[in-house]
Amino acid sequence: MSKELKSVDYGLEKIFEGAQDFLPLLGTDYVEFYVGNAKQAAHYYKTAFGFQSFAYKGLETGSKDRVSYVLKQDKIKLILTSPLNSVSPINDHIVKHGDGVKVVALWVEDARSAFEETVKRGAKPYMEPQTEEDESGVVVTSGIHTYGETVHVFVERKNYKGLFLPGYIAWESDYNPEPTGLKFIDHMVGNVGWGEMDTWVKWYEEVMGFENFLSFDDKQIHTEYSALMSKVMSNGNGRVKFPINEPAEGQKKSQIEEYLDFYEGPGVQHLALATDNIIETIKQLRARGVEFLPPPPQAYYDEIPKRLGEHRHMLNEDIRELQKLSILVDADEEGYLLQIFTKPVEDRPTLFYEIIQRMGARGFGAGNFKALFEAIEREQANRGTL
Ligand code: FE2
Repeated sequence: MSKELKSVDYGLEKIFEGAQDFLPLLGTDYVEFYVGNAKQAAHYYKTAFGFQSFAYKGLETGSKDRVSYVLKQDKIKLILTSPLNSVSPINDHIVKHGDGVKVVALWVEDARSAFEETVKRGAKPYMEPQTEEDESGVVVTSGIHTYGETVHVFVERKNYKGLFLPGYIAWESDYNPEPTGLKFIDHMVGNVGWGEMDTWVKWYEEVMGFENFLSFDDKQIHTEYSALMSKVMSNGNGRVKFPINEPAEGQKKSQIEEYLDFYEGPGVQHLALATDNIIETIKQLRARGVEFLPPPPQAYYDEIPKRLGEHRHMLNEDIRELQKLSILVDADEEGYLLQIFTKPVEDRPTLFYEIIQRMGARGFGAGNFKALFEAIEREQANRGTL
């Protein structure tokens, strides 16, 4: 009898021995988006994705130049921020990139040491360590630049008992749609420019102490028309995983190049959100209006038992139900995974979401890349950008 597969929630144990511990990370703290209209975007994330109203700052709390809505679902925290005047630098970010991710915040024990250690290793400073406090305690934050105009903010909250961060109040709302079962951020993917992937891989290794634990080249990730390359970077305890993509030459335009054209530079391509019941989560998301990539052809589902190999008897889900919802399946030596990708969630074809359920597998769905990219190419063809 083979072992029973369970959803993976990585513990604090050190699983990537090569990674270094000068930057111990406790996990992702939050992801902050700069958007044109935070109030309406927050409504979308509540209604469509089941995020809960959590914290707020704006004119009512003394924040004169920006408004921020914090949304929460289980361990996932998103901040949606809009400027309140025309001189805020947030405007420049929105004009250039459209709505997108500005900050990938990492939860640390010591934000001063995180800043010093990474800057010493070559990081470009974004924010010197600063202390903010209110009646609930003290938070120390600092920040460094990563690819494009994206930044990492280090958040030290061990001496803080408040809801979120100083400056924020609880966001009470009468409108509270049910959660959809999203639990935590599994990984966050960055798109960088032509030939820049290895530069950023080296940067995450040297500056952040991450390790490259999976790589895919354009021979593995290509269709008849287009290609990309990807390397997955992980911190020491495996809680923070950043795959980095770059476009590769093909007959037609790589989806990564399309992203770079519309985002006008490197940036976050997708957030993968984990669930432990993907069928229920996707039924909910579809009913609430989230749009997903179109399904792969019938042959894809016919081949699932073959693709699962020795894990095929462990598949708990009905293949017909997966097909009905267009959920993809892949397997590696350790188990299988279920995943599905949304269409871009803003008008520019830039950021999208992945919903993933891991049943032992630690991979990223390499067996699905071809079916997935063919679906993306059909969308690109519709947009006239293939
Ligand atoms: Fe992904």
